[in-house]
Amino acid sequence: MQDKALIWDLPVRVFHWTLATSFAGAYLLADGERLRNIHVMFGYTVLGLVVFRLVWGLTGTRYAQFRSFMYRPREMAGYVRGLLRGDRPHYVGHNPAGSLAIWAILILAGLTGLSGYATYNEFGGDAFEELHEFFANAWLMVVGMHIAGVVVSSLLDRENLARAMITGYKRAEPAAAIRSGLYGLGSLVLISVLGFWGWTLVAT
Ligand code: HEM
Repeated sequence: MQDKALIWDLPVRVFHWTLATSFAGAYLLADGERLRNIHVMFGYTVLGLVVFRLVWGLTGTRYAQFRSFMYRPREMAGYVRGLLRGDRPHYVGHNPAGSLAIWAILILAGLTGLSGYATYNEFGGDAFEELHEFFANAWLMVVGMHIAGVVVSSLLDRENLARAMITGYKRAEPAAAIRSGLYGLGSLVLISVLGFWGWTLVAT
């Protein structure tokens, strides 16, 4: 039995699952006028979450920090070449291949949210609507790759990474653990998102 250590703070975990829910909700409710307000509610949530993650990437705990998963293209290529040779170095935070999908998700989340805002407020005619659809579909593709990557890594490493994104704990030396799960801030983020959703649903 190997050691477990706290790796993902609560703000990152709340960010992850509320972003995943907002993406799924907005995508499923993209067509038709009837539930447009709910689609827009998820879109604003995505924008708010991306702003929060930008700040948290600069100020958060060790593995939440952008610099902990800012790999050079050469490192990413080396990691993938290693995988093909059967070499699997264990990364406690995001690995170089997974980090590529994460950067793409963060950028596409921002671009999809901003183009959606422009479309909803009728800036710039049809151009933003087309861009919004394009970014949303590109985002769906990257999310598909992300989920496939998580499943494959979990099987190869024999570690349930999805569960780690819920509990925050991963297989690691105790010395690798973050000092605090930042439960107060994580709860505040969760309450803010749920409060915004509740308020929108009641007002709609
Ligand atoms: C069943 C669905 C999903 C599962 C099981 C899952 C699982 C995970 C796991 C395990 C990680 C950590 C990866 C690592 O160990 O390096 C992660 C990170 C991440 N995932 Fe997902 N994910 C899912 C859906 C999504 C969706 C739908 C999105 C976006 C809309 C998303 C966005 C992200 C982002 C942005 C990160 C980086 C977290 C951070 O550092 O802030 N995931 N996901």
